[in-house]
Amino acid sequence: MALQERKEPDVYQENFEPTSYLEYYRMNQDPIGDEVLHFLLKHYNATFKSGAGLLQPWGSFLICRTGSLCSGSPYTRQRMAESDVSGPCDERDPAGLSLSSLPSRDKWAEKEERVRRAVTRVLKCDVLKEQPLEPAVLPPADGLISSLCLEAACPTLQACRDALRHLRTLLRPGGHLVLSGSFESTFFMVGDKRFPTLPLNEKFLREALQEAGFIIEKLEKVARATETHLDNRTDYTGLFFLVAQKGD
Ligand SMILES: C[S@@+](CC[C@H](N)C(=O)[O-])C[C@H]1O[C@@H](n2cnc3c(N)ncnc32)[C@H](O)[C@@H]1O
Repeated sequence: MALQERKEPDVYQENFEPTSYLEYYRMNQDPIGDEVLHFLLKHYNATFKSGAGLLQPWGSFLICRTGSLCSGSPYTRQRMAESDVSGPCDERDPAGLSLSSLPSRDKWAEKEERVRRAVTRVLKCDVLKEQPLEPAVLPPADGLISSLCLEAACPTLQACRDALRHLRTLLRPGGHLVLSGSFESTFFMVGDKRFPTLPLNEKFLREALQEAGFIIEKLEKVARATETHLDNRTDYTGLFFLVAQKGD
């Protein structure tokens, strides 16, 4: 299917309600949220678990989320190693998300505290800008994680190519981009608000990443499960998770 360029204006500033968005991620109560979480967390786990190699060189990392960017300090490596993300992966429950294995309220508080300590700064980020973090200036990071963001932020394929180039400037040479998102999606709903998205496909992603100066190390994908096809809150056809290294 030919990709279509999105024309609608950006609606995030006025209409995106993060707390409503989180309704997707009510564990075991929302098939779409479960599908996304299980796919992504399985691959985050495989990427960052001890011995996977990638965690080792990450002294600092950036996480692109909800239009902001979190920055982790050199302490991050130790903190991540302590967290469940680095634990063993169970194929049936890749992130340890099943209700039976949910930790107690105290344990969650402990985890929350650990995450808060690991995050050193939260900065506004706009991937459409040449310098996404301006006016802030950070030293180049070892890694950058962006999840379900590019297709939401970029109105056109050219904007998406540019955004990858902009994100690249935040990484040190040899640094890693961990990028996930949806295929062929044109919109998603948050409550009664509709957010347009840019339909992406694998061919475009591979070309755009190469053009932006990244070398893809792995690209995982999954087709949308048939049981979620009747859910008309979004129209993605599949999901991807990739790791790419900043080339010379
Ligand atoms: C589908 S949500 C994804 C949220 C979260 N990262 C996740 O994985 O569930 C899309 C996100 O893209 C963000 N976004 C929209 N335009 C952006 C831009 N120009 N730069 C950076 N982020 C943007 C929105 O704030 C929103 O949080």
